[in-house]
Amino acid sequence: MTVKAKMTVDKEYKIGQIDERIYGSFIEHLGRAVYEGIYEPDHPSADEQGFRTDVIELVKQLRVPLVRYPGGNFVSGYNWEDGVGPVSERPRRLDLAWRTTETNQIGTNEFIDWAKKVNAEVNMAVNLGTRGINEARNFVEYCNHPSGSYWSDLRISHGYKEPHKIKTWCLGNEMDGPWQIGHKTANEYGRIAAETAKAMKWVDPSIELVACGSSNRKMPTFAEWEATVLEHTYDHVDYISLHTYYGNRDNDLGNYLAQSLDMDQFIYSVICTADYIKAKKGSKKTINLSFDEWNVWYHSNEADKKIEPWSIAPPQLEDIYTFEDALLVGSMLISMLKRADRVKIACLAQLVNVIAPIMTEKGGEAWKQPIFYPYMHASVFGRGTALHSIISAPKYDSKDFTDIPYLDAVSVHDEDNEVLTIFAVNRHQTENLLLDCDIRSFEGYKILEHIVLEHDDVKATNKQNRSNVVPHSNGKSKVDNGQLEASLSALSWNVIRLGK
Ligand code: AHR
Repeated sequence: MTVKAKMTVDKEYKIGQIDERIYGSFIEHLGRAVYEGIYEPDHPSADEQGFRTDVIELVKQLRVPLVRYPGGNFVSGYNWEDGVGPVSERPRRLDLAWRTTETNQIGTNEFIDWAKKVNAEVNMAVNLGTRGINEARNFVEYCNHPSGSYWSDLRISHGYKEPHKIKTWCLGNEMDGPWQIGHKTANEYGRIAAETAKAMKWVDPSIELVACGSSNRKMPTFAEWEATVLEHTYDHVDYISLHTYYGNRDNDLGNYLAQSLDMDQFIYSVICTADYIKAKKGSKKTINLSFDEWNVWYHSNEADKKIEPWSIAPPQLEDIYTFEDALLVGSMLISMLKRADRVKIACLAQLVNVIAPIMTEKGGEAWKQPIFYPYMHASVFGRGTALHSIISAPKYDSKDFTDIPYLDAVSVHDEDNEVLTIFAVNRHQTENLLLDCDIRSFEGYKILEHIVLEHDDVKATNKQNRSNVVPHSNGKSKVDNGQLEASLSALSWNVIRLGK
């Protein structure tokens, strides 16, 4: 049996311009993300600063435009001053968030150097857990003020004459979560975030600020948290954050692959809440969304319970991803692109070793997890205007969801290069899906490439065999008279690229 679906894509049905920062990622001082991840001075590929060039090469393949740093939960106990100046004088500190020891060998300036090497901007988080207005405004002064003040001159004395010009800043992290150091109520956080935002923007009016939304949609304070925080901060911030992680804990694939519907609902609810406050305030300003933590995270939960407290950079949150995880990651990317009009920043959490597309062996190779591929495809090919794709597809129900379309898809028009890209997941577990797509508004467009990620074993990983779960370009599709016909294999991630 073949499942059939119909789709219409028209270049005039625009969702919005895709902000490239939607393909951002995240490096936290956590586990082996920094140490043994991006930084390993004894590694054969290390450059003069100790950064692994093999990792840099893989990050460049992902075309990551923005990297959030330094946390995460870590930031809520972090003194940024510990990570600047002579490395030999930097203190070792207990990190209460992850119960490890932080050596501060890498800090703000080194990380910004690394980000430049991978052609990314830094999305810098300030500590609103144990700290407040003063430390945050000093940090902006240290990073962004040209010279002639205490903190900017300190940066210059540390060897960085030019200001770093960090544009995007996060006002703390997951402040609604009881696990957070300095956890706050929505009113407490809203007040400190608003006052901190004002001071930071007084130092540098060109910066953009992200206020903390809920840690996930199931938090008991969601969406009252967003409403209250925005009541306080609306005039001073630019984005509200969203975080979510999914996992196939019940080993129920149909239900697992439907988790992106939860993400759709989460995004929609936050947009509605932000716009409710806009209406209430009679504001002309629109608050956009920063989905600055998203991924699959559950494989490493048990192993992490056995970590020796206060160790330095232990393997932590080292999920080994499967093929089915890559399918969900593909659908999560589709969900965000479908709301590219409002989701302007997103960070795959995280980038190296910690719930990451890139893994490293100490002294050894760097390798790609299955989730590397949908993330790379979206980042490399998903630039331009997101288009509404009118879909009519058969549906199924699962434990937690109803009306789950077997076809999950979105289209992107790269006007500059005259390329149309369709990203599509076939959620059907046994049947190929025959897609009939009306692309008449793209006159003369032909198939350039049909990339497919598929595997017989949904639990397949790349841990033993690095080329076990890898994409191929032998997808079956053709265009005839403005009609695209594509066959999407059962359980597959597809990238269909069309041009003249
Ligand atoms: O990304 C891992 C952790 O998940 C982050 O530190 C925290 O913000 C979230 O709970």
